[in-house]
Amino acid sequence: MGKTKVLAETGAGQHGVALATACALVGIDCEIHMGEVDIKKEHPNVTKMKILGCKIVPVSRGTKTLKDAVDSAFEEYLKDPVTTLYAIGSVVGPHPFPKIVRDFQSVVGKEARAQFLETHNKLPDIVMACVGGGSNAIGLFTEFLPDDDVELVGVEPAGKGLDTPDNAATLTLGTKGAIHGFKCYNLQDDEGNPLPVHSIASGLDYPGVGPQHCLLKDLGRVRYESVDDKECLDAFMELSRVEGIIPALESAHAVAYAMKIAGGMDSDKTILINLSGRGDKDADFVADTLSL
Ligand SMILES: Cc1ncc(COP(=O)(O)O)c(C=O)c1O
Repeated sequence: MGKTKVLAETGAGQHGVALATACALVGIDCEIHMGEVDIKKEHPNVTKMKILGCKIVPVSRGTKTLKDAVDSAFEEYLKDPVTTLYAIGSVVGPHPFPKIVRDFQSVVGKEARAQFLETHNKLPDIVMACVGGGSNAIGLFTEFLPDDDVELVGVEPAGKGLDTPDNAATLTLGTKGAIHGFKCYNLQDDEGNPLPVHSIASGLDYPGVGPQHCLLKDLGRVRYESVDDKECLDAFMELSRVEGIIPALESAHAVAYAMKIAGGMDSDKTILINLSGRGDKDADFVADTLSL
């Protein structure tokens, strides 16, 4: 039997850095598959992974982004599922991956709910998170699911617009299908092949979405909305300049939707937003894009 190795895909690189960190700590070989477009865009995370001793596998097929990285990582995993561990980066893939990831992520929801109660003496009126594959959102939502009075909102990437092909608003525009070994709403062509998708946030451009989100949409327990690249960039800058918090472009989608609706809410109403990651990885890209 070969030496154990952990492998994963990554879009924005956050998951890759987390895994490379854990592998460095316990001394296991780590291999991360990442699209060439994302390697360039999210280079600070790539540098961190290299420093941590991880092998980066650049993926040059398709749109060279997240979905292609998942394809590549699955193919590598299937070559040797005995000595390889696949640590998938979202609540996607075949059972039990979505459940494993959801259960680990739900720590965030447990802590957020307890801290919110302690600080405000009540639960939030709205709980909001961005949705790519859906892990940070389901991790936060899980603890609030029994709280019927708490509205849950998932925010998807509308990319360059819902009326263009350049978006990844899977729950908003997708139809039922299958991808990477699980059934879900899907952005797909007539033959069921995943469409090339786009978001300014590398971690959100995935044509499928976690199966539990699909159920929650069908049940009407979670409302799924979308914001576009420009709204995301505006929110990124606003949160940075008003609060001194530079959010990940993924998280900035949730901030953008909160900014959209907050003005119309009573002043005693509260929104809890999940900041799923920090924006260091996106700083150079945003500075270039906005010519700062
Ligand atoms: C900071 C950050 N937030 C959110 C996401 C989206 O993933 P998910 O929808 O699984 O939370 C990613 C994915 O890479 C990410 O890096």
